[in-house]
Amino acid sequence: MSFILHHQIRENIATYLSEKTSLDKELIYKNLSPPPNKEMGDLAFGCFLLAKQMKKSPAQIANELASKLQEQDFVQSFQAAGPYLNMKLKIDEIGKTVLNEIITGAFFSKGLTENTPKSMIEYSQPNTHKELHVGHMRNLCLGDALVRFLKYTGHEVISSTFPGDVGTHVAKCLWYMKKHNKEEVPSENKGAWLGAMYTKGNNLLEEQKGSEKEEENRKELTTILQELHQGSGPYYQLWQETRQWSLDLMNKIYQWAEVKFDKWYWESEVDASSVELIKKYYEKGLFVKDQGAIGIDLSEEKLGFCLLLKSDGTGLYATKDIELARRKFEDYQIQKNIYVVDKRQAHHFKQVFKTLEKMGFQQAKDCYHLQYDFVELPDGAMSSRKGNIVPLEDLILQMTSEIKEQYLNKYQGDWAQEEIETTAHIVAAGAIKFGMNRIDPSRKIVFDMKEWLKIDGESGPYIQYVHARIHSLIQKINPQIGQEKINWSVLEKKQEAQLILKLMDFHIELQVATESYRTSHLCSYLYDLSKLFNSFYAECSVANAESEEIKQARLALSYCVAKVLEKGLALLGIRAPLKM
Ligand code: ARG
Repeated sequence: MSFILHHQIRENIATYLSEKTSLDKELIYKNLSPPPNKEMGDLAFGCFLLAKQMKKSPAQIANELASKLQEQDFVQSFQAAGPYLNMKLKIDEIGKTVLNEIITGAFFSKGLTENTPKSMIEYSQPNTHKELHVGHMRNLCLGDALVRFLKYTGHEVISSTFPGDVGTHVAKCLWYMKKHNKEEVPSENKGAWLGAMYTKGNNLLEEQKGSEKEEENRKELTTILQELHQGSGPYYQLWQETRQWSLDLMNKIYQWAEVKFDKWYWESEVDASSVELIKKYYEKGLFVKDQGAIGIDLSEEKLGFCLLLKSDGTGLYATKDIELARRKFEDYQIQKNIYVVDKRQAHHFKQVFKTLEKMGFQQAKDCYHLQYDFVELPDGAMSSRKGNIVPLEDLILQMTSEIKEQYLNKYQGDWAQEEIETTAHIVAAGAIKFGMNRIDPSRKIVFDMKEWLKIDGESGPYIQYVHARIHSLIQKINPQIGQEKINWSVLEKKQEAQLILKLMDFHIELQVATESYRTSHLCSYLYDLSKLFNSFYAECSVANAESEEIKQARLALSYCVAKVLEKGLALLGIRAPLKM
């Protein structure tokens, strides 16, 4: 994707440096970063990038530039420190630009990109007939945040999902329900109950392995799969009914999480046509037949053999994914095709993308598997096969009641009950969404409810709390803040400068996060911003400021922090309550 240089201040500095060094402006822009030690300046540029071109050491270059460069619009002075060119910025000038824009909202409505590809993000593709558990939330939260990041930065994005409503897991569940279950179907929460049927079915099949039942079970499962495939028979009817239970559960969770998909694809819907597609390409001579089965040899690409049709004529998971991709390209003319799926499926997607390429789909090179690692409980891994999971609905209930107990019940009587409920929902969703996005996708997440709810840790509720505190500060001192002109030049403290610079960097951090599909990057930014606000607030009294002018400027600065926190949280799909 191509980001435009949108940030007036950075751009201004980059232009200046580029004129003086004849180095590409965009390159400079991207490499302007805060120095490790704040005492050294506000922004630094590593001169390594110039060494080759100028045939000098980075330190020499930094020295020469520092002595040559002069004060300009936003830079007070330049100094060399080793290989770095450090800059002391004119905070009041920057404040005027950035802070006023945040207050008017102009800051948030800038186009950040140009010539972006039309993208689809497929995420949250749970299997029906299994229970949704906390692990599924990682995919959901990551995918939803990415959709929001891309939209905000100016991309056209289509969100899609692809639930797995056919396959052996379904057969196992229906088998148990029909042959072994003695319980009555509950009148509510059928989706969760169905998930338990799957787990029981799976366990029983494991148990009976090696016994005289094994052969009988295998036959029964084959019958079930055949009925589902043909679309008729008692198992097919049971499938239709039970599939809806799972769908109801998914929708309930999506509604709770405030997630919506533009397009629902289903595994069952691409099953038959995927088989036809493979046959068509086999006829064209692209695939090979081996003992009745059809597939493609990808050994030259070190991807082994990709089986596409079994000898009984049925397709596989990869078969469906090929047809799915074809549909996505055709339905939406997308240029970038992103799949948020856990890392176990890396090989699968490599095979699928390579096969698509060999089939002649241009878009194959722009298919991307965004992998992520698992969610574990403090005492180990989860598996719905074994049944040691935290069902999502239970978790949500538990979390909501914990939040009320810890933070909100004290307002009973003061707040309307509805407000308590809504806030508890927002905080629970905030804790989960922040917790799931906070960790880099390549790392494992250990889900620990108590940790995630702490308002003094790196958590969603912490950021929400800082936001709410600023709101109440504003209510107390001047609810009209921002409507009158502020004299920013009175902000002279170190903590104030740090805060202003951090606000200035919101979009650059967001760009880095979006380009690398790492929503965790924004989470760190929001956490750092909140911490900076807290140290500002501890050092620079707002209510008892040295003068009225300083008081209003500090309050307006706080208001800007709240605005950026609110926007940042919204990009993660998190709401920011005004009180908590
Ligand atoms: N339903 C699958 C699973 O639970 C994930 C589907 C991922 N998406 C895809 N296009 N293959 O493992």
